[in-house]
Amino acid sequence: MRISVIGCGYLGAVHAAAMASLGHEVVGIDVDERKVEALRAGRAPFFEPGLPELLTEAGAAGGLSFGTDISAVEGAKVHFVCVGTPQKKGEFAADMTYVDSSIAALTPYLRPGDVVVGKSTVPVGTAERLAEQLAPTGATLIWNPEFLREGFAVEDTLHPDRFVYGLPTDDEGVVTPEGEAAKAQLDEVYATPLADDTPLVVTDYATAQLVKVAANSFLATKISFINAMAELCEATGGDVTQLADAIGYDARIGRRFLNAGLGFGGGCLPKDIRAFMARAGELGVDQALTFLREVDSINGRRRERMVDLAREVCDGTLVGKRIAVLGATFKPNSDDIRDSPALSVADSLEKAGAHVVVTDPQGIENARAARPNLSYAQDVLDAVRDADAVLLGTEWSEYRALDPDTLGALVAGKHMLDGRNVLDPAQWRAAGWTYRALGRP
Ligand code: UDX
Repeated sequence: MRISVIGCGYLGAVHAAAMASLGHEVVGIDVDERKVEALRAGRAPFFEPGLPELLTEAGAAGGLSFGTDISAVEGAKVHFVCVGTPQKKGEFAADMTYVDSSIAALTPYLRPGDVVVGKSTVPVGTAERLAEQLAPTGATLIWNPEFLREGFAVEDTLHPDRFVYGLPTDDEGVVTPEGEAAKAQLDEVYATPLADDTPLVVTDYATAQLVKVAANSFLATKISFINAMAELCEATGGDVTQLADAIGYDARIGRRFLNAGLGFGGGCLPKDIRAFMARAGELGVDQALTFLREVDSINGRRRERMVDLAREVCDGTLVGKRIAVLGATFKPNSDDIRDSPALSVADSLEKAGAHVVVTDPQGIENARAARPNLSYAQDVLDAVRDADAVLLGTEWSEYRALDPDTLGALVAGKHMLDGRNVLDPAQWRAAGWTYRALGRP
């Protein structure tokens, strides 16, 4: 099928390449010429495992093209809206500029029977508003949220846990005939993963939009819950990693997303819970989500606690101390530094008077652009040289495997601050290091 993808960021670029790999003829549109140029050349504009291979294969097979000119969507039957909805400056609400402008740009090219598929994360109520706007074109809107994780985006797109389709319904809540026809078209696009028995949940618009923010709020809450327990462990001498293991054996709780440490960052969880609170306020149900304010502040407190720990191991002052920060990205296997806990702590350390050297396997370029005040080293060994303390901020596999003796020979002070609880305290202490972590004795 001929389809278009509007917006070629983390979501859209992967979606376009993945849909082409399923055999569709895909055109990806983005306003950013440099991004389009890279994608055309088969290069991923950001680090995402598996994406370059997918782009090259699909590009070579001829089913994938990219451009900045929206008229290239002409003739496509299904249009995926994959643009970003960042947090507005100075407020919690989401900035809907890109969603609105892409719908406006798409409208002249829509034909009756076409399907517009909303994948961006939006404040609930957006789909209803857009559907009204699209009505004169005869195109039908499906709200089909995306749950991909950065670092696993290709895998998550081709083998999702579930599909959610929010379809237009009549006053009785029954899917309209146009909705059924649109569903059949989207089923055809996703025929391959659907054939793998991927669960499909069909809902109305409101539910589909809520599913996405509810899922992200739950995940953020789970992380902040364990980080709150880390605060209790710090006050009592308990060990949060053992606590997580022990409660995680209860299948009703589950061990995943119970890793205590510097907390969550990235382009999704932080801004999504804030936008959700803002929307709840507009809907007059802000009390329902006041707990998310707590989730957000627990998350922020972990970063502050780490700065305090660093000060502690540096004999009470960070002024003039050299600190190596391992990791700049918000998580491993990504070059994304948006709201990165590691980088935010690095910045606070610098503001407290330390000389901070940051290293990262993929994120240095982005980090340098965002935080030019910090120093950077390509290599871990260069970063830790003469450091008074080393802080592990992002759990890249190469940092988990570091050898305490090799590092110990280079540093000025053998103080390891494990911001992600991934190192073995016994091993580091045996090598003569002070090992400090969040939520552990
Ligand atoms: C998230 C959702 O997982 C995904 O479903 C949604 O589509 C987009 O937002 P992503 O932002 O890629 O995906 O990252 P995720 O893997 O969820 O991690 C988010 C943050 O939480 C990272 O900073 C990570 O380090 C942190 N985290 C995760 C923890 O601190 N502890 C954990 O146990 C898990």
